Amino acid sequence: MSHFPSGFLWGASTSPHQTEGNNVNSDWWAREGLIPGMEPSGDADDSYHRFSEDMRLLAEAGLTSYRFGIEWARIEPRPGHISLAELAHYRRMIETARELGITPVVTLHHFSSPRWFAERGGWTSADAPARFAAFTAAAAPILDDVEWVATINEPNMLAMMITMEAAYAKGQKTEWQSPTVEGDSVNQEGVVALLTPDIRYAVPLVDAHHAARDVLRQRTDAKVGWTVANQAFTAAPGGEARLEVVRHEWEDYYLNATAGDDFVGVQSYSSQEVDADGLVPHPPHPDNTLVGSAYRPDALGMAVRHTWARTGLPILVTENGIATDADERRIEYTREALGHLSAAINDGVDVRGYLHWSLLDNYEWGHWGPTFGLIAVDRRTFKRTPKPSLKWLGRIATENTLDR
Ligand code: BGC
Repeated sequence: MSHFPSGFLWGASTSPHQTEGNNVNSDWWAREGLIPGMEPSGDADDSYHRFSEDMRLLAEAGLTSYRFGIEWARIEPRPGHISLAELAHYRRMIETARELGITPVVTLHHFSSPRWFAERGGWTSADAPARFAAFTAAAAPILDDVEWVATINEPNMLAMMITMEAAYAKGQKTEWQSPTVEGDSVNQEGVVALLTPDIRYAVPLVDAHHAARDVLRQRTDAKVGWTVANQAFTAAPGGEARLEVVRHEWEDYYLNATAGDDFVGVQSYSSQEVDADGLVPHPPHPDNTLVGSAYRPDALGMAVRHTWARTGLPILVTENGIATDADERRIEYTREALGHLSAAINDGVDVRGYLHWSLLDNYEWGHWGPTFGLIAVDRRTFKRTPKPSLKWLGRIATENTLDR
């Protein structure tokens, strides 16, 4: 039996673009119509209208926390034009969570930006951090009593997306390759190579995070952090030196930028080997998940230990989960992952909560196939059907104990 610390948050996560539907003023909506091979998000899960049902299912299962995002493209559809109605919408989400006894964890940016922001150069334009800080200031009044605010989701994956975007712009890539689905990229020499997030694109993200943090500190009581994708890197024989370089490029740079934050979000799905040449692609294997990653529930323990060693900050696991169409596999994966998490907590890692990715099956960045949800959603009727894993996780939450 593993007991979790008292007050531990148990919940699930989503993001606006992946669940709300009709995010028509966003760069992702524009992109979905342009790049061959991408499925569109369309109505998504219609959570924009059905968020209270989503939260009620979460609360009824016994979970106590919900991580969701506010969508910049809706709140500021034209530069400087702030929609008070959209702010009121997101305030209703926060209040609905409270009424249901749910602690909201609010993300300000989860991969999607306003279309106008992208057209002006996006994160590579000189005023991007100031633009993001201005949006944060506009949103601050609805966040003043929210305890946990994450500024930017997975800045390292966002930098990867900007890197990929540059490859599309130069015509080096034409077919859609989801940044969250493992795949090989063929470089100009015809060699299979896994892309690396270009650290030049990370600099404005760090500046934006710090600027938003300053705004939130002045105007709210929130604990402020950002959430970093952790790959649980390991060295193959001979890959030890390269491992350090890869870790820096993929995550340590972003973990170093948390100095002065109140917490750090850990997002973990799988583990990745590094040899002397860099990342080692996962060979096809029957155990691989629907996004092509290796089945590695132990990655979560590795991820929180590495993040703790690097930052010394309180940790919220803001995402952990598995793309599978076999729900018993999701339960098995999560049970094992929680065992590794509990062992890390017992060794002194300060973890404050666990939020599963995802509450709902949703739009996996260009694809509808990979399903991560504790709840299935019928995409025509929008009917929600909780899976056994929701009940299972709710029971762990209620007992605050993992019975192994
Ligand atoms: C992202 C989510 C995504 C999930 C599963 C993370 O990279 O934050 O938006 O759906 O992983 O791939």
